[in-house]
Amino acid sequence: MINVRKAAVIGCGFVGASIAFSLMQKGIFSELVLIDANREKAEGEAMDLSHGLPYTASMRIYAGDYDDVADCAMVIVTAGANQKPGETRLDLIGKNVAILKSIIPQLTSRNFKGILMIVSNPVDVLTYAAWRLSGLPAHRVIGSGTVLDTARLKYLLSQELGVDSRNVHAAIIGEHGDSELAVWSSANISTVDLEQFCALRGIQDQAALRDKIYHEVRDSAYEIIQRKGATYYGIAMAVSRIAECVMKDEHAMLPVSVLLEGQYGLDGLCLSVPSIVGENGVETVLEIPLDEKEHQALLASAKQLKEVIATLDL
Ligand code: 2OP
Repeated sequence: MINVRKAAVIGCGFVGASIAFSLMQKGIFSELVLIDANREKAEGEAMDLSHGLPYTASMRIYAGDYDDVADCAMVIVTAGANQKPGETRLDLIGKNVAILKSIIPQLTSRNFKGILMIVSNPVDVLTYAAWRLSGLPAHRVIGSGTVLDTARLKYLLSQELGVDSRNVHAAIIGEHGDSELAVWSSANISTVDLEQFCALRGIQDQAALRDKIYHEVRDSAYEIIQRKGATYYGIAMAVSRIAECVMKDEHAMLPVSVLLEGQYGLDGLCLSVPSIVGENGVETVLEIPLDEKEHQALLASAKQLKEVIATLDL
């Protein structure tokens, strides 16, 4: 039996702990299990987080082990090495696939029936590997993908345009990494086409603005890692938003990383495209309109990921 109010976070580094901190404030779970190869680290995080509970929702946060995941509605995997300054996400593949290979059998042997969310990088390749290794239906294996990059895009656009970031409707799709792309062709500010909104704001060189923002989004993690060694708050907010969409069966549209099965002419890989997310995980992978340049960029991003997937021994 699934406990619909229970989740586990596997990996209690900065990312896992920040996700737990964000989740406890969302109030969507009543039980949160923290699992880490270093049990004491998980215990310490659980203690620290629990001391905030009197000021949020009533729930239990505790350090556990894999027996605790059997009835979880959601398992969030953050375990793995993080990028060091100068490393790309794809550089992490060897170490992090090995770690995933040790985690997934722990879930399948316990007949895990919930939604598996992969956050560790390179997230698209690891989401594909998790799907293959777990044998779970593809809609139950979600990568956090470009939900974070999309938030970065919305934020940066909002700053340039002087408007609430929640009014910005635009997405980053493709790899959560260097080959990602912005879908400018359908970007809008609460129904006002981006181009028209820029004109309203007196922005002369829109192409230069788009180019600048795209590069800032794409390189955000490098810039943050150079300054503070890691990124964790942004990804924590993105992951808890995805979790909320699933647990509240929102049918919200999010660019999560998911197995493609012919959409956009692609298959045999996971990458981020706008999808409807609800209690079954990815309810529908949407084929949104892309202009020719965007479609070509998506195909190029997929090609990169497929080259890495081809090197895996799954
Ligand atoms: C990020 O984009 C490193 O993937 C992580 O913040």
